[in-house]
Amino acid sequence: MNYKIFFFLFWILTPFIIYYSINLFHFNEKQIQKLSNNYNLKSKKVLLIFAHPDDECMFFGTTIQILEKNGFEIHWLCLSTGNYRNQGEKRKIELLESGTIFNIPKNKIHIYDHPQIQDGYPFNESLIAEIIENEIDSLDINFIITFDENGISNHKNHISIFNSIQKVLEHRNNNKIPGKSLLVLKLKTVSVFRKYLSFLDFFLDQLKCLFFNNKNHFSITFFSLPFQSIQAMLQHKSQLVWFRYLYVIFSRYMFLNTLELIE
Ligand SMILES: *[C@@H]1O[C@H](CO)[C@@H](O)[C@H](O)[C@H]1NC(C)=O
Repeated sequence: MNYKIFFFLFWILTPFIIYYSINLFHFNEKQIQKLSNNYNLKSKKVLLIFAHPDDECMFFGTTIQILEKNGFEIHWLCLSTGNYRNQGEKRKIELLESGTIFNIPKNKIHIYDHPQIQDGYPFNESLIAEIIENEIDSLDINFIITFDENGISNHKNHISIFNSIQKVLEHRNNNKIPGKSLLVLKLKTVSVFRKYLSFLDFFLDQLKCLFFNNKNHFSITFFSLPFQSIQAMLQHKSQLVWFRYLYVIFSRYMFLNTLELIE
């Protein structure tokens, strides 16, 4: 067989083979079981916090799909409209359309547009901590998913959200807020090499779990096919520059999300 055809088939067929094989073993369900065995999820309600419209499908698409399939009620908190190029109004609508693709109703998508939290400028982290506290209270949330300390792409806005969450957790620990435990998982940033291995990083991830299984370090991995995330990404029409297409083909985040506990 011509090696080009072989390569093409490999790239198309392998994700399906992985997906259907791991589904036989209820791989994703077992990850959720691991989560609920270790932590007391009072309800199946989760708040996903991100910085800009399109972060949800570029980075968190797999998590959203798997949690949605497993009956979680998902809320989105998007802290800016992504107005760096004055497209904020358009991008708000695009985010709602992406929500439709992921079955997230409009009333569960909260988009902020605050002068001190603007795309591309330094975020006011104390203010974000306040916003998060308010959302936790008004939605009665005890499970949050967001960026880690490297923010996947090292974007300073993503990292600010992680810092704000730290403030929220510190505040809660210092004040011993009773009966309000908060579970926060962060989306793991992997090295650039692994980031662009696409679905192949699944094997590295599993090898790492096998050989470096640190019992004190909670982590779960979800695997999905990328079609829903791609469809959601296509709703962000203002953002569809050529390198986005490369991202879709090569990024592990279209297939894989590794979530770790924030202590
Ligand atoms: C950031 O927000 C906090 C809380 O609302 C506020 O007290 C503080 O003055 C703000 N920081 C700046 C630099 O404006």
